[in-house]
Amino acid sequence: LKRKYLGQIAEATDEAALEVIRLAAVGKKGEVALKMRELGKMTPEERQAAGPALNALKDEINSALSAKKAGLADAALDERLRSEWLDVTLPVRPRREGTIHPISQVSEEVAAIFAELGFSVAEGPRIDTDWYNFDALNIPGHHPARAEMDTFYMHRAEGDNRPPHVLRTHTSPVQIRTMEAQGAPLRIICPGGVYRADYDQTHTPMFHQVEGLAIDRDISMANLKWTLEEFFSAFFEIDGIKTRFRASHFPFTEPSAEVDIQCSWVDGQLRIGEGDGWMEVLGSGMVHPKVLAAGGIDPDKWQGFAFGMGIDRIAMLKYGIPDLRAFFDSDLRWLRHYGFAS
Ligand code: PHE
Repeated sequence: LKRKYLGQIAEATDEAALEVIRLAAVGKKGEVALKMRELGKMTPEERQAAGPALNALKDEINSALSAKKAGLADAALDERLRSEWLDVTLPVRPRREGTIHPISQVSEEVAAIFAELGFSVAEGPRIDTDWYNFDALNIPGHHPARAEMDTFYMHRAEGDNRPPHVLRTHTSPVQIRTMEAQGAPLRIICPGGVYRADYDQTHTPMFHQVEGLAIDRDISMANLKWTLEEFFSAFFEIDGIKTRFRASHFPFTEPSAEVDIQCSWVDGQLRIGEGDGWMEVLGSGMVHPKVLAAGGIDPDKWQGFAFGMGIDRIAMLKYGIPDLRAFFDSDLRWLRHYGFAS
């Protein structure tokens, strides 16, 4: 019996086969149980020899069964490990992640710096009436500035009586909208897209400006100069950048100034904040009384400064980008080269 069952157990290849063997050998109606029942017919001497032997046989078969069962489980696990492998040393497929566009990033940097100076961010529509874009800014219909700005006019169907709309040519209309909405005093910047029909290495039909406007009881050009120098020093991360104010003309400021920042060229490389060269970066001035009045603010009580700066331009200067058009190409190789994409 022992040889028969131990042999069968050794040859079993799965748990189901083991269960069949178990029932046949040591089950309630198995062969060992039958033999046990025969003990009753034996003489006491015979019984004393056979009883323990049968019990031992039963134990031996049971432990062979459980050893085999464990062995089968191990083998199954080994087999799974062999067939379901994964080579974790293989290089993963590169996953390109989107990043913030340089223009958005620079807009955020600008807003963060001006926030420290007490300026909050204002917004206005990119499609605005020609009143906000021009008239309210002291640029009446015949004014040459309208022609100079290469304005995109929205088409109006015959009989459409809405006021003429334009793609805003600058962020200055937001000056008027903010004066109307907030009144004086106020301190805001407005970053955003603007549009002019122009295209070459330094001009794209859509580009970005950041407008600045501060209105209070006694604001002066000195406040403007200090504010801009604080801003440029923080933006270019260079202490004490100098600015140069050149007399200029804008219909919406009086007096007006174009502002340059200190720079120099060393071995064909532009160095901001060093040397005795100058780079034009923005237009500015004291808000014209007519503009304050158009925004509903009393020019006898309040005054302010305003400036408008090209975001794309200061981004080019900060990151050494030679061609403005690249900002709008969405060329991933370019974005990666400047560290703006992974
Ligand atoms: N709006 C002017 C431009 O687009 C810039 C400017 C803004 C100048 C505010 C003076 C004051 O060129």
